[in-house]
Amino acid sequence: MSEKVMIFDSTLRDGEQTPGARLNLEEKLKIAKQLAKLNVDIIECGFPVSSPGEFMAVQTIAKQVKGPIITALARTVQADIDAVWEAIKYAERPRIHTFLASSEIHMKHKLRKDPEVLLEMAVEAVKYAKNYTSDVQYSLEDATRSELGYMCRVIEAVIKAGATVINIPDTVGYAVPEQYGQLISEIIRRVPNIDRATISVHCHDDLGLAVANSLIAVQNGARQVECNVNGIGERAGNAALEEIVVGLLVRQDYFSQFHTEVNQKEIYKTSRLVSSLTGIPVPVNKAVIGMNAFAHSSGIHQDGILKNMSTYEIISAELIGGKAAQMVLTARSGRHAVRHELQEMGFQLNESEFEEFFTEFLVLGDKKKEVFREDLEALMADRLAYTAPTYTLEYLQTVSGSKSIPAAVVKLKKDEQIFVETDFGAGPIDAAYNAIDKITGISPRLETYNLRGVTEGRDALGEVSIMIKYQDKTIVGRGTSTDVIEASIKAYLNGINKLLSLSKVNGNSSPPGDSE
Ligand code: KIV
Ligand code: ZN
Repeated sequence: MSEKVMIFDSTLRDGEQTPGARLNLEEKLKIAKQLAKLNVDIIECGFPVSSPGEFMAVQTIAKQVKGPIITALARTVQADIDAVWEAIKYAERPRIHTFLASSEIHMKHKLRKDPEVLLEMAVEAVKYAKNYTSDVQYSLEDATRSELGYMCRVIEAVIKAGATVINIPDTVGYAVPEQYGQLISEIIRRVPNIDRATISVHCHDDLGLAVANSLIAVQNGARQVECNVNGIGERAGNAALEEIVVGLLVRQDYFSQFHTEVNQKEIYKTSRLVSSLTGIPVPVNKAVIGMNAFAHSSGIHQDGILKNMSTYEIISAELIGGKAAQMVLTARSGRHAVRHELQEMGFQLNESEFEEFFTEFLVLGDKKKEVFREDLEALMADRLAYTAPTYTLEYLQTVSGSKSIPAAVVKLKKDEQIFVETDFGAGPIDAAYNAIDKITGISPRLETYNLRGVTEGRDALGEVSIMIKYQDKTIVGRGTSTDVIEASIKAYLNGINKLLSLSKVNGNSSPPGDSE
């Protein structure tokens, strides 16, 4: 009989710890709803005590997202646990997740407390959480660098206190598969009451072994795997959800005792949604989901594929809901064809949303002869990344050339007011950004700038994603256009508008450009 492996998605908690991957409330809610469609078992959606904005996002998800267990993270302190409960108590199935380190390195240098004191704190935290809900998860941070005997004592004690899930994280991505598998089976062998809890694993990818470690842990008794869409997460990231799920599925011959209930047809869409909202591109060679994962370039491979797909392909794009043979649209394609294509891609728009989308489609269709699925996807991503704008672009003119000084004229609208500025720069984009800074009165640092052609061809849509930093905030901005300068300006304005809306939501002092 095949046993179920529960998929615990932490894209909105550990995944959001990726530098620059700040998401606002609406963006988190969109991702959480999509994770529910993907049918993950548990969604960890934040660390509520960290800020009022984070608390609100977790609470909104708990109220609105049905299906999966909803959990959030707490240190072993009462204020954290109270905040988690206040935020998740509206969920159909709430879980409190609390954690404390168990390795000597962390206990001595970070926590600076005696191991016995920490063990008592863990027990007290679990008992306290148990007053709120029966479903309590306890994580031993840095488990893979912890002393086994001590860890087993902690696990036994927290299970006695009521923990129902025990997580053994490889916090720093230090484990290697065989050793990690042995660790899981040793814990099962040594902890007398382990049968009263589910064992979970949570692997980071510092050595590129997170997925391998998670899979071997399953073979050794773990029944919950923590993972993130596209493998995003702290430092080198966490085990990639799509790799765990598709690995177990495609290699059923080997993993015949295990299955997940994830709807793999939603993987492609979830991956693209997370990438466009976090602004973290999916590497082209990323396993399972990268653009090249289904491309075959060598002549020998192409020849094999044409004769029989199984020669060089173990995963089909369709398996994960990727594109099948695609229809090419033009400005003369009617509403029916566009709506059909969107539905095929899994996007459901109401009448007014569709009309707005169709107008954007026609503008693009006039600029580009052929509109592909990737173009529609980019337009949809623009809509998803949409933040109620403080500033909108009214007019843009730039000058550049081998003998001229790059300059820009930018006209922005805020409420009913129009602002016009000109400036110079190292290039036309720099000049336009300088002009925008003059208008908004803030001058964020441009940390990263990425431009990608959405499709092939010289008339392709250019998609720009940037990371800007202002004071302590790092924000991702995104914009598309057939004109790369315009796409760059849109991305910058998207970032600035997010920055301004974040300042309002978190009740922080407003940046100078938002002074009225
Ligand atoms: O990596 C880690 O140890 C964590 C815990 C909080 C589960 O993210
Ligand atoms: Zn982690």
